[in-house]
Amino acid sequence: MSKRQFNNILITGGSGFIGANFIHYLFKQEFQGNVINIDKLTYAGNPENLKDIEKKSKYFFYQADICDYDKCKDIILKHNIDCVVHFAAESHVDRSIHGPKDFIYTNIIGTFNLLEICRNLWKDKDNTLFHHISTDEVFGSLGDSGYFFENTPYDPRSPYSASKASSDHLVSAYFHTYELPVTISNCSNNYGAYQFPEKLIPLMILNLQEGENLPVYGDGKNIRDWLYVEDHCSGIYSIIQNGNVGETYNIGGENEWENIKLVNKMCSIMDELFPDNSPHNKLITYVKDRPGHDRRYAINCNKIKDELGWKQSVDFETGLRKTINWYLSNTNWINNIKSGTYKNWLQKNYESR
Ligand code: NAD
Ligand code: DAU
Repeated sequence: MSKRQFNNILITGGSGFIGANFIHYLFKQEFQGNVINIDKLTYAGNPENLKDIEKKSKYFFYQADICDYDKCKDIILKHNIDCVVHFAAESHVDRSIHGPKDFIYTNIIGTFNLLEICRNLWKDKDNTLFHHISTDEVFGSLGDSGYFFENTPYDPRSPYSASKASSDHLVSAYFHTYELPVTISNCSNNYGAYQFPEKLIPLMILNLQEGENLPVYGDGKNIRDWLYVEDHCSGIYSIIQNGNVGETYNIGGENEWENIKLVNKMCSIMDELFPDNSPHNKLITYVKDRPGHDRRYAINCNKIKDELGWKQSVDFETGLRKTINWYLSNTNWINNIKSGTYKNWLQKNYESR
């Protein structure tokens, strides 16, 4: 099978967690083209995530909002973009519960804008692709058994997942209606370096380090399927090179953990690293549940494995230890986040419970 090759890849949201990891991944793969990053730099967008990349001659950064049609169009035209990998989104479920508006604008209107720009500019161009990054949350919540497949009916239950579901539908509508070459991936929970510490794993690492309470929502028995972020990046890369246009691919860790078991596991790793503060699990505090908290996510990712030969390469023990070490070693990165509005947000989130 001959691989698709692109000259100028546009990454949206490249200064966030997965986008930044994907840009690092492209350079590690010695991708030969130019990499153009459009990011609004919201609270989650952090130029420090790309400080090793900034000086590369094939990297270009624009601070721009994907809701700004004219600015994005100018950039896409100027750089002759032939592939868009669309990460930019409001991504945190709790924030979508506190204030859904930004989720509707960025995730729905922003995606619509990018699709419109590509539809207009790519009319007579071959070899173009719009790859949309989505989530397993669009499929809703599972009971004790079963898996999400690519054809599982959508059943989003939070403002975040509803906005992502809406964007997914727009992307596939542009394929069916306008023949825009698109691919979509729906991925499970990612973990790894550069994740903003509002999400479960990095939040717990920071609190463990500081001896603060570890807030576990509800009974702690909700289940998530964890995937190391670099494995997500390799999955995306295989789709943009070899995926079938118009199709969706699930990407998952095949690595289900109850939240409370995961937090206890992190506590025992910290017990090994800092025995003087043992046992760290004394910090676990059950707090009021997230409204509409999905019980279980679990991805079936046989399609990308069978058709594109992708597989996970990092086992959870290794990935989790690497992640904990990354946060313990990158104190400047953490202190810079903490000096912003980080604490205010956490306080607001937990006070409202
Ligand atoms: P993130 O919140 O860490 O980063 C999002 C990035 O998008 C930030 O850099 C932010 O500044 C930028 N952004 C936000 N609004 C923008 C706008 N209007 N215009 C331009 N840039 C804007 O998110 P993430 O965890 O890296 O997630 C990336 C994508 O992957 C999202 O689409 C998310 O839905 C999806 N996803 C995430 C996970 C996960 O576990 N984190 C899993 C599956 C899918
Ligand atoms: O499944 C993919 C999704 O994973 C992505 O689409 C989202 O962008 C990403 O944020 C993530 O969503 P979750 O809601 O699953 O991730 P979060 O880290 O917020 O929470 C993971 C689980 O841990 C969830 O069951 C809620 C729980 N939790 C979370 C936090 C922040 C706690 O118990 N305590 C906490 O303090």
